[in-house]
Parts: sequence; C-alpha cells; structure tokens
Amino acid sequence: MSAQPIQPEPADRPAILPMDAPAPAPKPVVPIVAPIGEVVLQVTDLAVRFPSDEGPVNAVQDLSYEARLGRTLAIVGESGSGKSVSSMAVLGLHNAKRSTITGSILLDGHEIVGAEESLLRKLRSNTAAMIFQDPLSALHPFYKVGSQIAEAYLAHNSVSKQVARKRAVEMLDLVGIPTPERRARQFPHEFSGGMRQRAMIALGLVNNPKLLIADEPTTALDVTVQAQILDLVKNLQQEFGSAVILITHDLGVVAEVADDILVMYAGRAVEKGLAKDVLARPQHPYTYALLQSLPSASEDSDRLLTIKGSPPSLVNLPSGCSFHPRCAVRDRVPGDACARTLPELRTSAPGRQIRCHLANPEQVLTEEHFA
Ligand SMILES: Nc1ncnc2c1ncn2[C@@H]1O[C@H](COP(=O)(O)OP(=O)(O)OP(=O)(O)O)[C@@H](O)[C@H]1O
Ligand code: SF4
Ligand SMILES: [Mg+2]
Repeated sequence: MSAQPIQPEPADRPAILPMDAPAPAPKPVVPIVAPIGEVVLQVTDLAVRFPSDEGPVNAVQDLSYEARLGRTLAIVGESGSGKSVSSMAVLGLHNAKRSTITGSILLDGHEIVGAEESLLRKLRSNTAAMIFQDPLSALHPFYKVGSQIAEAYLAHNSVSKQVARKRAVEMLDLVGIPTPERRARQFPHEFSGGMRQRAMIALGLVNNPKLLIADEPTTALDVTVQAQILDLVKNLQQEFGSAVILITHDLGVVAEVADDILVMYAGRAVEKGLAKDVLARPQHPYTYALLQSLPSASEDSDRLLTIKGSPPSLVNLPSGCSFHPRCAVRDRVPGDACARTLPELRTSAPGRQIRCHLANPEQVLTEEHFA
C-alpha cells in the first residue's frame, strides 16, 4: 500500500508563518528526558479488519509488540503482510467507519483504540510521528517548507512565531540540509527527493516525539541517499532518545540499524527477537526464506523478495499455519498439524518468539531444506 497523507485538518492549521525574516543560528535540540528502554508503545492483541465485497479483510490479527525509548524496532514482511496497516492503527489513522479495530494500543499511557479524534491529533504531533516513503504526502505543496515545520511547532508549543521560525531552521540544519535559512523559504518542489525526505523527518521530529514510525522511508531513493537517510534516523534517535519503528522490505537495512525485529506474515507476527539474533539464526521458516531470498552482496542490488508461491488472500486465509502452502519444511512436523492448527506465538529461546509447530526449528533450518 502506498503511504497515506497525514495533514492537519484545515481547522487545525494555524496561519502559515512567513519565512522571509532572517533566521538565527540553530540551537541544540532538547532530548527526551526519560529512561532509555522505557516502553512507549504497547500493542496487545491488535486486530484490524476492513469490509470488502468478498468478505472481511483480516489485515492484522493477534498482534502484540512493544517499542522502547532509545531502541529501533524493524517490522519486516512481504507486501501486504500488514506492516503499514498496523502502524497506521498506532496513530489512529484508520477511518472508524471503514475498519474494525480491536485489542489495545497504549501510546505513552493513552489508549488509542476507540480514542477521540482530539486526543489522537494531540498525540500525533506531540508524542508520535510518522514518516512515509513519499514525502510529498506529508508536505503541503503550497506552503514553504520552513513555514510548515514552524506551524507544526507552534501548534503544540506556546511560543512566538519568531521562536517557531528559529526552531524550523534549526530542524532543517539538524537533518543535514545545507543553507537551512535559505531552504526554509523554499517550497517542497524546489527540494530534491533526498532533501524532501530530510524535510519530512524534520517535520516529524520538530516536537521531539517519543515514537517515530518510518514506513519504507528510503525505498524511493537511490542507494547513496538511502544510506544517508538511515544514518540520519539512527543519529537523530541517539540524540532524541526516541523509540523508532522502521518498516522495511530490506533485511540489509534491518541489519544496519535495528535493535529488535518483528517479522509479519499474512497479518500476524511470526517471529520476534533481537535483530542480530534473528538475522544470524532465524527460527521461523518464513524468516529463513526471507533471508535466503536476499540478493548476495556481490549481486546487483535487486531488493525484491522472492519466495516460492505468493502471500495468501487475507479474506480467505489458509487453514492452520498461514504459511503452510509455501513452507518447505512443513513435512518435518508430524501429522497434518501445519495444515490444521494455527500455531501460537511461543517463546522458543530467551527473548525470542516464533509462531511455528517445529519442535527444533534451528536444526531443521540448517539442514539445507531450502537449497
Ligand atoms: N483501507 C483498506 N481497505 C481494505 N483493505 C486494506 C485497506 N488498507 C489495507 N488493506 C489491505 O490490508 C493488507 C495489508 O496492507 P498493508 O498496507 O499493511 O501491507 P504492507 O505490509 O504495508 O505492504 P507493503 O510492503 O506493500 O507496503 C493488504 O492486503 C491491503 O490490501
Ligand atoms: S507451522 Fe508448519 S507450515 Fe508453519 S512455518 Fe512452521 S513448519 Fe512451516
Ligand atoms: Mg506498507
């Protein structure tokens, strides 16, 4: 799914600030004063369903995870696995009339499921921010970039326009935009793709959110700019101390920046754990297959994941384990449990959970079943 725009409703949009006044030098950004490791987001038994002509689309089911200050959680999985839908639910971005959401999403102590729009709006700009693959979906084409950032700051801080303008220039400087005073006075179309991405990150971070969700933030960019943007997110996270959720298809990116990983398949979590452990020794056959399908370092960088077969319809999920029609090791589970019984997400090792019937997954997966 492509990125959805988050733009303030017209009624919320304060007067756009002129950016023509000379901007002062940037000042340091105040980091979040909270203990690193504190849980800022707790998702429990989340389910998101959409009506469709064919029947309900079970986009997300049984999903539980947490995000902690100072840590980056990568959510990975093939297209349509529910990464964006679950993250949009965290910010209360689904239309309540066209979706059914159950479970609990505690964002900085506030329940998001069923929350009033006024609370959601406040949390979206103060507590959590989302950056998208397409920055133009977040940046308004008719307003100067600096004005948009200043406006977002002013909307949630009792400061003068002058201070908000300073803050906008400071943010553009912080995300590595050269001559930020001049750039602040330009429109989004005057920025390159990489600079727009940086500007969107500046907009997302202007209110020091405790949680930053980055949904495929680098897919549209060339490889060099991708690396720069990821470095930027990583550095900003260290500076701000925020929790980051990084949604990506690219396991190379995960290895680079993530502390924790959540692998999703057909709307459910199938493996969770420390990123370095999961990438080094995957325990779920789907994670294993994802890693096997990565292009080798020597090959040209074609990032498309290819696993035999295709993801199932979310209207008619396969019986039992949703991955069973594509799983190369299902014959290693006695009987027909894989086709009949949905595996629970179980603890398979300290800090590791998998949704699979295999009793000894690592052993099975190292026996070259995918060769
Ligand atoms: N508003 C909606 N109405 C109906 N179905 C939807 C809606 N939004 C998403 N879906 C479906 O929910 C499923 C999960 O979508 P989602 O966007 O979360 O996938 P994703 O994992 O982010 O994929 P991608 O990697 O392509 O971005 C998809 O099958 C999608 O078609
Ligand atoms: S439960 Fe069975 S089909 Fe599903 S991933 Fe495990 S082995 Fe494969
Ligand atoms: Mg998506």
